[in-house]
Amino acid sequence: MDDIVALCKRRGFIFQSSEIYGGHNGFWDYGPLGTELKRNVRNAWYHDMVTSHDELQAPSGAPRPFQMVGIETALIMHPQVWRASGHYDLFADMMQTCRVCKKLFRADHVAGMLRESDWVASLREALGAGDGAVAFGHDSLRQWATHKKRGMKLAPGLALVREPDRTLEATADGLEMPFAELLRRAAATGGVAQDACPACGGDLTEPRQFNLMFETYTGAIQTDENRAFLRPETAQGMFVNFKNVVDSSRVKVPFGIAQIGKSFRNEITPRNFTFRSREFEQMEMEFFCHPDESRQWYAYWRDRRFRWYRDLGITGDNLILRDHDADELSHYSVGTADVEYAFPFLDPGEFGELEGVAHRGDFDLRSHMEGKLVKDDQGQLVVELDAAGNPRHKGSGKNLVYFDDETREKYLPHVIEPAAGADRATLAFLCEAYYVDEQPDDSGELQARTVLRLHPRLAPYKAAVFPLIKKEGMPEKAGEIYRQLKRAGIQAFYDQQGAIGRRYRRQDEIGTPWCITVDGDTASDGTVTLRDRDSLEQVRIPADEVAGEIARRLAGG
Ligand code: GAP
Repeated sequence: MDDIVALCKRRGFIFQSSEIYGGHNGFWDYGPLGTELKRNVRNAWYHDMVTSHDELQAPSGAPRPFQMVGIETALIMHPQVWRASGHYDLFADMMQTCRVCKKLFRADHVAGMLRESDWVASLREALGAGDGAVAFGHDSLRQWATHKKRGMKLAPGLALVREPDRTLEATADGLEMPFAELLRRAAATGGVAQDACPACGGDLTEPRQFNLMFETYTGAIQTDENRAFLRPETAQGMFVNFKNVVDSSRVKVPFGIAQIGKSFRNEITPRNFTFRSREFEQMEMEFFCHPDESRQWYAYWRDRRFRWYRDLGITGDNLILRDHDADELSHYSVGTADVEYAFPFLDPGEFGELEGVAHRGDFDLRSHMEGKLVKDDQGQLVVELDAAGNPRHKGSGKNLVYFDDETREKYLPHVIEPAAGADRATLAFLCEAYYVDEQPDDSGELQARTVLRLHPRLAPYKAAVFPLIKKEGMPEKAGEIYRQLKRAGIQAFYDQQGAIGRRYRRQDEIGTPWCITVDGDTASDGTVTLRDRDSLEQVRIPADEVAGEIARRLAGG
């Protein structure tokens, strides 16, 4: 990972935000190459979700085309949106601060932590192993204590556990003992010190709420009425515009609304490069369908979204599709699957979320109609009431029911939501592409070669054009080819500086799939060399066919 981060900075993919002031934690800037790469990721997503999608047919029932449309909504929405959606209440974590080291922790991650000083002793006691007992020794404890298998899973949204091996869950894991049994024994012997700081063992403050939404004020006066939030997801922009899109675009259910845009979350521990940032970009689509067809559409989008990453080059075991267990599902979800990637900063066997595909039922449209929903004792979604029996957070009161003018049926559509992160996808494509091999240099000696084997659709430059030497008309001819490519809308780079081998290597390192070299033969036979980044194969093609050939290769021909 360190090599990838270094490459990103050295070659202008990603910089720390405000770096000259020491950086700003959780914020990142994309340099010239990163901007191209991320734009290509976004374009590939939008192309797949909207542009090339209109002619597809429903997975069940009578074949019919369905519409996919785009939208671009405001980053700051009416504050009531976040109250009705549940973000105002639920997008908050109970946090505790250590009185000694002042670090902040999520309360559910520190409950049951063992204090450092009590570490082995309390476990021995908890498990009824006295001093003389050898059921497990200090060494074996240490051995499994370093095994952090569950660290990420303990904190899927906010990985706060600095030392996950010290949690009771990891302890139970290491001892191959059911978690409940460990807790029972620990509690019975008083061996568990509750609420100890996982970093230093110090005392923690009482839990208090911490909302992940960034707050701001609209207008000149900073009053409660003027309090607003930077959106923590793009999705609500689609839900609140459902009726507008239906009324203005003549779309018919099933149809999808897609949006790419920035979202903001005041993550407590932004980390792992761009993986968890405070400002990031989402690529979300809300697909509105008939409730009776929603399960099939869920399966359709889940599989289709997984395929998208595969088609763009993540073909091996680093990519998985993981269906959530029932106890992992959001309170409104009938089914959710994550597309996950084995990022190099994770431990072997661990995966990080790239995208969630969720069956959201009618939760969102209902919330914006009726008010914030909660599950009742029977598991039914009902409007949450305050002490006086009024909705705690009111919805818009607008009727969002859909009327099918063919079947004359009225219903609230169900929603399937593939929600991806543009920054995480970009990072995964970078990690997957990073490769080091050995190739002979200009003198024939083997040298390490760093290559980004990016899918040509994603590569920042599709082609680089070089004159072999800076004379004999070669720069002029190379310049012509460069302009030919640019005029065809193909992102290209011109370089006449340095030994040709080094120029190739510079392009390999940034993922340029093809290099074109004008040499001594070009003047006589009108051909140039076309070199392939991955196979290193070099072929000669007519100079005036370069743009056509690159376009053909880009189209997969
Ligand atoms: N509307 C549903 C929603 O927002 P989410 O799982 O919270 O779901 C969707 O976010 C995607 O957004 C994630 O799978 C991830 O790719 C990206 N994402 C979420 N939080 C992020 C963060 N702090 N930094 C970077 N990407 C993030």
